[in-house]
Amino acid sequence: MSHTSVNRGAHQTPHQDLHSEQGALRGEHPGRSRNPVIKVADLAWLEFEKPDLDRAEVFARDFGFAIAARTEHELWLRGTFAGSPCMVIRRGRASRFLGPAFRAAERADVDRLAAAVGHTVRDIDVPGGGRSVTLFDPSGLPVRVVHCAEPLPALPGQPPLTLNTGIEPRRTNAPQRPPREPSRIQRLGHVVLETRTFARTLDWYLDTLGMIVSDFLFLDGQRGRGPTMAFVRCDQGGTPVDHHTLALHLGPGNGYVHSAYQVTDLDSIAAGGEYLAERGYQRSWGIGRHIQGSQLFDYWRDPDRFMLEHFADGDLFSCDLEPGWAPMSASGLAQWGPPVTRDFLGTNPSPAKLREVMTALREDNELDPARLLGLMKAMSS
Ligand SMILES: [Fe+2]
Repeated sequence: MSHTSVNRGAHQTPHQDLHSEQGALRGEHPGRSRNPVIKVADLAWLEFEKPDLDRAEVFARDFGFAIAARTEHELWLRGTFAGSPCMVIRRGRASRFLGPAFRAAERADVDRLAAAVGHTVRDIDVPGGGRSVTLFDPSGLPVRVVHCAEPLPALPGQPPLTLNTGIEPRRTNAPQRPPREPSRIQRLGHVVLETRTFARTLDWYLDTLGMIVSDFLFLDGQRGRGPTMAFVRCDQGGTPVDHHTLALHLGPGNGYVHSAYQVTDLDSIAAGGEYLAERGYQRSWGIGRHIQGSQLFDYWRDPDRFMLEHFADGDLFSCDLEPGWAPMSASGLAQWGPPVTRDFLGTNPSPAKLREVMTALREDNELDPARLLGLMKAMSS
């Protein structure tokens, strides 16, 4: 049934390649829209609100961000790669996630999208200037699509280490000394969102922003009801892009789960992790290697308990690969690494969690008792 990279040949046709053990069954979700409004190029940045920008800046530097701009009301964070900043934190009363901003491939796409949905294009206060349109996804999250006038120039990055792999000596007469310093973030990779309206929200990202599914996960015994998680990438044609720029999963909550930032290599993750641990930050889960996306990962909590990930060596897919299908399970989250934590899974029982579940079950959405039970089973298997 499935074929892997082993029998990829010169005569491979688009949309017939599969990277996973299982593909779609007849009639299942194709994982892409026939005629999306636009095709976004990438995730640009994430927007947060926090009461204390000084405290936010201390964590940001320890985690490995550079500061793109700082005013009394805003903190713009960036990586070393040229492009847009990767996070803005606005001063506000609560500590909360405001929403993602996606990067339009060209300026005209912002206008085309705004015209299609009947919204206005506005100038944005991003360093370098730009234009944006704000939409709302079906779970109610504000989603911006932006075009930046002047991308930020690159900063000096952390060079990858030269490794002796045992086959061919690459480093001789020179010791290996990865510096004990904060990782240096290169760029924003992906954001993961939880939603009570998974199918509708997923289709919105595919139809409106032209994103395509890399991998679907389904609940064991409930595949016939459709997937409950999707790893979604941007469609840049033959240009390979991150396996996922966005991941969505069904759950009782609505909103931010974590966001991930690329660093150079495993030593950057590990040494940067030691640096964070020494300063008393809480590791949520890591270091390990994922299955969907294959990234080396390490998950941390910021002082407001938002989860952020350092990653390296993720899969890059062109538009030619079909979605893979796999059952959802906690043990299926990693190829190697320490056992997944309750903190990462969000399964620590709390009164707030219980209230969230009760609300989600009462509302009209895609979560019902059978699916909730399926999710709980998946998270303990
Ligand atoms: Fe991640």
